Amino acid sequence: MSLWDYCKAMDDTELIKEKLNIVDLISEYLPLKKSGVNFKANCPFHQEKTPSFVVSPERAIWHCFGCSAGGDIFTFLMEKEGMEFKEALEMLAKKAGVILQRRTDDKKDFKDRLFEVNLKAQEFFHYMLTKHSFGKKALEYLKSRGVTDSSIEEFGLGYAPNSWESMTKFLLKRGFTNQEITLSGLGVAARSGNYDRFRGRIIFPLLDSKEKLRGFSGRVLLPAEPKYINTPQTAIFDKGSFLFGLNLAKGEIRNKKEAILVEGEMDMIASFQAGFKNIVASKGTALTEGQIDLIKKYTEDIVLGFDMDLAGDSASRRGIEMADKAGLNIKVIQLEGGKDAAEVIRENPALWQKALEQSVPIYDYYLTSTARRYDTKKAADLRKIGGELIPIWAKITDDLIRERYIQRLAAFLKTEEKIIRESVEKARQETSKSYVNLLKKTTADNVVSIKSRRELLEEYLITLLLHPPQESNFFPNFPETLFLAEKWRQIFVLLVLYLDSISFKSRAFDINEFASGLPKELLSEIDRLYLIELDSKLIDAKYWQKELEGVVSELKKALIKASLEKLSLEIKNAQEFDKMETVESLNRRFRDLSVKLKNL
Ligand code: UTP
Ligand code: MN
Repeated sequence: MSLWDYCKAMDDTELIKEKLNIVDLISEYLPLKKSGVNFKANCPFHQEKTPSFVVSPERAIWHCFGCSAGGDIFTFLMEKEGMEFKEALEMLAKKAGVILQRRTDDKKDFKDRLFEVNLKAQEFFHYMLTKHSFGKKALEYLKSRGVTDSSIEEFGLGYAPNSWESMTKFLLKRGFTNQEITLSGLGVAARSGNYDRFRGRIIFPLLDSKEKLRGFSGRVLLPAEPKYINTPQTAIFDKGSFLFGLNLAKGEIRNKKEAILVEGEMDMIASFQAGFKNIVASKGTALTEGQIDLIKKYTEDIVLGFDMDLAGDSASRRGIEMADKAGLNIKVIQLEGGKDAAEVIRENPALWQKALEQSVPIYDYYLTSTARRYDTKKAADLRKIGGELIPIWAKITDDLIRERYIQRLAAFLKTEEKIIRESVEKARQETSKSYVNLLKKTTADNVVSIKSRRELLEEYLITLLLHPPQESNFFPNFPETLFLAEKWRQIFVLLVLYLDSISFKSRAFDINEFASGLPKELLSEIDRLYLIELDSKLIDAKYWQKELEGVVSELKKALIKASLEKLSLEIKNAQEFDKMETVESLNRRFRDLSVKLKNL
């Protein structure tokens, strides 16, 4: 069943849920006992002696805290009776006396509508940037980074005004539905309608190799986090198998028989504009399987122009391993002073040209990277270099190339080739074994993911917010960016908007009022958290508020700690490149943040 079918069926399911009482329905299968506002029983889906299966009549949902199963009346029947969704829908419709609306399979039309809504949105964004006074600052920003008018046209750049609903309103007026706006990712579903996802950002249209507009990314104008946001996964957009600029670069990639791969939109545009047009951007991710497939259609030779140390980053190494397996030849551009492509080109396009000409094969790059990081005069360091490179050498698929680098490494470490060759062989056998073990393990463990402390804290904070004490008139005074997980961010923003609307009318918090009209994925999260029984002390408004403030400050600390870790890496990097000015300014930021952390 497609997402679209699901959405169309939604009205029916809502109607059925309203007409049937979940407690009555589940009571036909097991004895439910009242417990507070909810009902409880031993879970029918796993063995247990104390009841952890909870039903909320208010929310028309159930959840088991033992085995984490949960859902509504439809999923209950699907799990208990082994029914398909359609069967459950038909049976419950009959029981509720609801006549189902006919659904035809118009998935294709639906995707077309998403492309159309994107095109309309782009028109709006582009107009805002190039014609409207709202876009003035954004235009100045682009100019300050050297983006020309003709690039603005060629890439169709735009600006999303800093407003909650201007885009949404514009699209509604043009005949698009709220559902289409949500499913395209342009809007984020709110209680009634949508709010704009892209606000106050420069907009980059994301076109695929066939010029189809699949989504957008948006960059802030002033330093803020996150720097970029992207269209989420939709029926027509998948970030993991997307390369920015491929529509414009593919011809030149074929001509030059080589693709330059950089990280960012701005890097790609800068290089393209300077006449190096065989270039695409991965949008910050390490190489993925999907991107490798895309590139392979045009060339087997890639040159990586990333600003980080590819050898020091495990995700990058994995991406390179996959590219090697797929038969790509990989070279690396070494940029001076840890700059990225856009910065180098802005300084002087000739430097970029030189860097391209001097790019080195990936395994040479790995060698020089270790030489930079270790002291080759020390025996212990030589061992470390071996320890780092031998597993990588073991994964080189081509026998001749592997042999060549075995010789190079032996010379580098001043050891006999035989010793290196044996170690590489041993590592090759071990990797194949460990893959087998890993495969066995993940299938056997049923993959129970362990949440980090940070994830638990974020979840707990939302749980607290969903259970405000009765006399509370609390209003959150922290930003949505405190949450790292997108879903909590969304829920938080919606909650703030809701709290604002009820405080205006001085009404009390009502979970159903808040939940009505929220998108399905968010609802199921909210429902899960709403069923959690909190410490009874939290009924007291003062106690609740103190607990909440405690969690917020913990999260703030965690954010600062993460920034400090990132900063210290950057400091190390700048020191390596002898960028003393950068080191100083980074050190200053490090000190400021440390003080902030202490004062929390
Ligand atoms: P960078 O942080 O290196 O930014 O992320 P950049 O490309 O140098 O951006 P400018 O030059 O400051 O404008 C590299 C790429 O990763 C993606 C974007 O595509 C970005 O271009 N990214 C980055 C995100 O998707 N989200 C983020 O929050 C940050
Ligand atoms: Mn940059």
